[in-house]
Amino acid sequence: MKAVRVPKEKAEEIRRLAERSGAKDKNRLVVCRGEYVEIPIYDGFEDLFTGYEIIEQQNPVFAKSKDLFEILSRKIPEDLHEYIPRRYKIIGDIILIKITDELRDYRQLIGKTLLQIHPHCRAVWQDYGKKGMLRRPRVELIAGDGSETIHRENGCLFKLDVTKVMFSPGNQAERMRMARIVEDGEVVVDMFAGIGYFSIPMSVHSRPKKVYSIEINPDSYGFLLENIRLNQVSRIVPILGDSMYVTPEGIADRVVMGHINCHEFIPVAIRALKGEGTIHYHEAVPEAVINRPVERIKKAAEREGKEVKILKFRKVKNYSPGVIHVVVDAYVY
Ligand SMILES: C[S@@+](CC[C@H](N)C(=O)[O-])C[C@H]1O[C@@H](n2cnc3c(N)ncnc32)[C@H](O)[C@@H]1O
Repeated sequence: MKAVRVPKEKAEEIRRLAERSGAKDKNRLVVCRGEYVEIPIYDGFEDLFTGYEIIEQQNPVFAKSKDLFEILSRKIPEDLHEYIPRRYKIIGDIILIKITDELRDYRQLIGKTLLQIHPHCRAVWQDYGKKGMLRRPRVELIAGDGSETIHRENGCLFKLDVTKVMFSPGNQAERMRMARIVEDGEVVVDMFAGIGYFSIPMSVHSRPKKVYSIEINPDSYGFLLENIRLNQVSRIVPILGDSMYVTPEGIADRVVMGHINCHEFIPVAIRALKGEGTIHYHEAVPEAVINRPVERIKKAAEREGKEVKILKFRKVKNYSPGVIHVVVDAYVY
């Protein structure tokens, strides 16, 4: 868990920057240690605080999740306290929380407690992870009612149903980075568009000529259409289908490959480019083979008779123990 460590006199300025940019970790409090102040931030926002010290925070002070622990620890036997969840996701007015088997009998209590702590939320779903290439969520209702919501982030609205499509708050910094990376008049192909995770912020905050947004899952595609309407963006061309077969060729300045397991699609992305351009390639990669994403891009480019310049290699988030979600910006020419 990261924090920016700044001298006291700089704390207010940097705290405001962290709040404004969405970098501030809402689950942890700002803490003062001697002459320094630690401002907790989400992973992936480090670049925003160039010139300041980024630390792995020791003894963080939790905000709402501390309340959850405090309340639950009075009601749950002591030998189970170590399993009380410290983190959960709030998507719109819905809470998603991972609960270990040890606390199975306390799921309703956890759900009800969360609704008390967050009165603006109306349902709590237990989160069992996502399955398959379509990244469908596996969730179960444990308190309240309802699964459809509108999540607000970075000036964008994302309507979704947490039982049908995923939303990863951990990818927020990457969505914000993508929002402003597009240059005026560019043509973008978003090969795994989902509900518009990247297509919507790109269209709201930049001025692309067109964004072709391809999505295979009709549920996600339905929300993509709704989100285009909600955000009043006119430059998105939604396409329902498998990007392996429906990706347009020879038209893009930029291709987004926002799926953590999409290496087989790299040749398709290269062929979508107007001869040359940038690919944002995502992969969940074990740390032991950290160069694999770059090697995969280079190999695919070579087969297509192209050269590659790696512009950026960025960690998006920790994915699972020993595995990280990374994105590679590669210029193919
Ligand atoms: C869930 S998103 C990834 C999340 C996103 N990067 C974020 O910021 O949270 C991946 C999407 O790719 C879609 N998908 C998977 N295979 C596909 C394919 N062959 N063609 C088009 N879309 C596909 C899934 O249905 C899913 O909506």
